[in-house]
Amino acid sequence: MTFDTLLYEIDGPVATITINLPDRLNALNAPCKRELAGVLGAIRSDPGVHAVVLTGAGEKAFMAGTDIGELTALDTVTGKEFSSDGQSIFDTVQHLGKPVIAAVNGYALGGGCEMALACHLRIAAEHARFGQPEVNLGIIPGYGGTQRLARTVGPGRAAEMILTGAMVDAAEALKIGLVNRVVPKGDLRKEADTLARAIAEKGQLAVRMALKALNAVFELPLSEGLRVEAGLFGELCGTGDFREGTTAFLEKRKPVFKGE
Ligand code: COA
Repeated sequence: MTFDTLLYEIDGPVATITINLPDRLNALNAPCKRELAGVLGAIRSDPGVHAVVLTGAGEKAFMAGTDIGELTALDTVTGKEFSSDGQSIFDTVQHLGKPVIAAVNGYALGGGCEMALACHLRIAAEHARFGQPEVNLGIIPGYGGTQRLARTVGPGRAAEMILTGAMVDAAEALKIGLVNRVVPKGDLRKEADTLARAIAEKGQLAVRMALKALNAVFELPLSEGLRVEAGLFGELCGTGDFREGTTAFLEKRKPVFKGE
């Protein structure tokens, strides 16, 4: 598959998507969002892809937000549609059914921070910077930032980032739980790839159900989330992967999961 705004590589069970608009600091424009929606659909239906790494081209930016040039024509009606359409692509990332790891290689601002938040895991290079600077443009985050940031770092810290528009550096992002780990710039892609491959080796049914249960944290009260967890746990107990995992442990060998 070839794209104008993305690079897409598959190496064994790991797919890597690179937003490839480095001259614009990988700011998301309409063609890029269309291509992203297309590639996510292809990944969802490709049984060979077990994990995804998402990053930005160049060394300066993961994504510096939505393309601000595209915002200027929006009005009350088209603005709402713009936000809803973007939210639906970011929802697709969160509900892809396969783990998506953001390899944050620089600025993750506005939609870039929101994209990282829609991913399941975030690894940042030491020079990464995160922020929701929309208030400086007279708007608010519109691709899920008010909701996912607050659920990830807590409402107080989210309020500070969203109301001031100030950036946080990678060390601060680690401290507040916005990223899973921070690594030297040169190690970022390798770390993300290694993590993706470690997850890709696990039983894929268990990974998918774990993501489903984790997504329930965003959407359901605890009592309902616990019911979802019990249901998914039960479903997995009826699978060949469960038989294989438990038998392999008792036979002191490595399990061979078939995803069935
Ligand atoms: N939309 C459109 N273009 C963008 C952009 C965005 N979100 N972010 C950066 N660019 C463009 C710049 O206009 C510039 O284009 P030019 O070379 O034609 O002038 C190019 O990318 C490089 O950016 P520049 O601002 O020169 O780099 P910098 O190192 O001085 O600053 C940032 C980097 C990230 C601090 C700055 O670009 C910025 O604040 N970007 C906007 C971030 C933002 O508000 N995002 C939320 C949007 S809703």
